[in-house]
Amino acid sequence: MKVLVIGSGGREHALVWKIAQSPRVSGIFCAPGNAGIESLARCVPIAADDIAGLKAFALSEQIDLTVVGPEGALALGIADEFRRAKLRIFGPTRGAAQIEASKSFAKELMVRARIPTAASRTFEVLDQALAYLEHHPLPVVVKADGLAQGKGVVVAATREQAREAVTDMLGKQSFGAAGRRVVIEEFLDGEEVTIMAFTDGKAVVPMVAAQDHKRVGDGDTGPNTGGMGAYAPAPVATPALRSEVVQRVLRPAVEALLQVGSPFYGVLYAGLMIVRGRPYVLEFNARFGDPETQVVLPLLKTDLVDVMEAVVEHRLDQLEVEWHDRAAVCVVLTSAGYPGSYDTGRPIRGLADLSPSTSPSFSDDTLVFHAGTKRDGNEVVTAGGRVLGVTGVGPRWTEASERAYKAVRAISFDGCHFRTDIAARALRSGA
Ligand code: AMP
Ligand code: GLY
Repeated sequence: MKVLVIGSGGREHALVWKIAQSPRVSGIFCAPGNAGIESLARCVPIAADDIAGLKAFALSEQIDLTVVGPEGALALGIADEFRRAKLRIFGPTRGAAQIEASKSFAKELMVRARIPTAASRTFEVLDQALAYLEHHPLPVVVKADGLAQGKGVVVAATREQAREAVTDMLGKQSFGAAGRRVVIEEFLDGEEVTIMAFTDGKAVVPMVAAQDHKRVGDGDTGPNTGGMGAYAPAPVATPALRSEVVQRVLRPAVEALLQVGSPFYGVLYAGLMIVRGRPYVLEFNARFGDPETQVVLPLLKTDLVDVMEAVVEHRLDQLEVEWHDRAAVCVVLTSAGYPGSYDTGRPIRGLADLSPSTSPSFSDDTLVFHAGTKRDGNEVVTAGGRVLGVTGVGPRWTEASERAYKAVRAISFDGCHFRTDIAARALRSGA
């Protein structure tokens, strides 16, 4: 079968790498892809949100399965459009993707389904939001309702910061349509964990839990980023906690979407805060996480294409999804200045011996997933803030972490930055 993956980051490289291992796949395409994906798939220069272009390509190439990486295309209704054209696609409809694309929609759904989450109120009128803030305990969390590429959340320590955030969103409209509505919510203090699940609208199959590292600096300091690294399976997610998340979060969310006539097909991502041992939802995403995917997929034993087909054909309850009993650590290499402004076009050295192989075994325990890279003549150069994600896999945390950092230190480019403490929590857990 022929598979098309949509997107161009580290998550999509990991998806392409995993899909390439399936004996059932005869051809892989990626739109638009990057310099690393090129070695495994034919990259086609169609933007991830060009739905008409993607549909025309899928029809002309007779693609059997399309897999959507980023949220933008889902929120624009790519799955609806493909289904209307009788094209098989792995990803939720526009209606179901609202669970990520609108925080107020997600909040209402959680309240209705009694899913544990921070108490919140939604506002569209600036004065009302400001008045509400005056009596809210601090810190307080202010969120733009719509998609804002991870920049729409402000954890305000002071009332002044909170006022500024609300004024930016509702008053100055700095976030455009995404900020026409804001959610103001209670601050939750705890440890964050991601639990993603495959779902076909009814059955829910959780993946191994992962932990992202959002701050740019060691020790969780500095500004928030798109993710500086991740590890899986996160020890904080004990079997009991995972089953609580399935029972109290994932299943009720999937059922609630079914009830409103928007069944969810694809990957439902729960971003959770664990407060005194109990999970609370911070956000839902309607897709695979980045960089969580770069540590979760290397641990998946079952053929990913089999899982995706079971989702698309609504028979996920008939498939047993298995995982390797190993640990994975992904360290992200970024351009100097990220998440602020940064330069691109810097040649990357040391990649030659480190490209992910298509080997389905674990003979290759070091995987270099490209995120913001592109080919420039014979060189691979930087082309984004997050440049590479280097995953080490091993029997325990020490080996996984050592493998990742050994490869990281073999790679260099001008201004390269990475955190040196990815998975430190897991290493301390002693597993
Ligand atoms: P979100 O996009 O909703 O996941 O928010 C981005 C980040 O903001 C999360 O990963 C948390 O670190 C933080 N955050 C969001 N909501 C809360 C909350 N209610 N309490 C504490 N931190 C939060
Ligand atoms: N790792 C956070 C996200 O994918 O949204």
